[in-house]
Amino acid sequence: MSPFGRPLLLLVFVGALLLSMACSPSDPQNTLAAQGIVAKKQQDLFWVVAAWAAGVFVVVEALLLFTLWRFRHRPGQGEPHQTHGNTRLEIAWTIAPALVLITVAVPTVSLLWELAEPPRVAMDVRVTGHQWWWEFEYPGHGVVTANELHIPVGETVQFHLTSADVIHSFWVPKLAGKMDVIPGKTNTFWIRADSPGTYFAQCAELCGVQHANMKFRVIAQPRDQFEQWVRAQRTPARQPDPGTPEAAGLEVFRTNCIACHTVDGVPGAVGKVGPNLTHFGSRQTLAAGVVENNLQNLETWIADTSSLKPGVEMARTPMPRFNQTLTPEQIQAVARFVAGLR
Ligand code: CUA
Repeated sequence: MSPFGRPLLLLVFVGALLLSMACSPSDPQNTLAAQGIVAKKQQDLFWVVAAWAAGVFVVVEALLLFTLWRFRHRPGQGEPHQTHGNTRLEIAWTIAPALVLITVAVPTVSLLWELAEPPRVAMDVRVTGHQWWWEFEYPGHGVVTANELHIPVGETVQFHLTSADVIHSFWVPKLAGKMDVIPGKTNTFWIRADSPGTYFAQCAELCGVQHANMKFRVIAQPRDQFEQWVRAQRTPARQPDPGTPEAAGLEVFRTNCIACHTVDGVPGAVGKVGPNLTHFGSRQTLAAGVVENNLQNLETWIADTSSLKPGVEMARTPMPRFNQTLTPEQIQAVARFVAGLR
């Protein structure tokens, strides 16, 4: 193999890999498929900057290739004429990039200013990043939930972002760019979804071993459906009927879970370490988007969180693994109780 064979092969391989990624029919986190006004404005700006970058690339490469070809070595030719300094050329290649930078800077800075002020805020949501899940609090509605953010479609929602531990980043690729989530500081940020749907979202700042599994969903709904959701979330948890497996589960929950989890309607269940579970059964996923929310996955999760998401708080000392302190029957019962919280 020639000395260039191996790097060339690698380049072709990496290129093919990158190209094949573009073939995915599903693009839930594609920033170039904007669905909200903030993302659309950012996308338009991206294309302006990308067009200038592409133009600069083409001109520079064309000049480079032309120079290589025009001044290539020919047999019998001596050393070519040497030049040093060319004032006009130097002024030109200083002014031209400056003009390009100004052309890019003007729309960039004006969009930054424009997006800093949200139009007619319909709703505020307080967002707290935790290793590795998201807490959403709707102060105007008295609702606290986790990992699933419901918003009314076509309305401006303003976020007040902070963190309980390390720096995270709030990112809903189809609705807006990223915003840092910093402990001890509150960043504000807004989005507006133009069409109803479920938007996949993700922490975008390396924040520990489960950073990649710090996902969330934004569910944009028409106003009436959103209000229906709010009403359901405001209702305290229904007490299970005596003698049912759920009632047995509630007892297990009272003795093992209330120090870390809140469930409105269960006396003493006011823990703030883990997510508020008042309407856990209404969520689509568990463990911040790691698996589908069903009874079997919930049992696995309660028995040994590390099997689904190594490193989470529930698996850290001094918290025991529940498969070591509870019987399989107790785990099944508590899972049925939690799954029944709708
Ligand atoms: Cu939180 Cu990455």
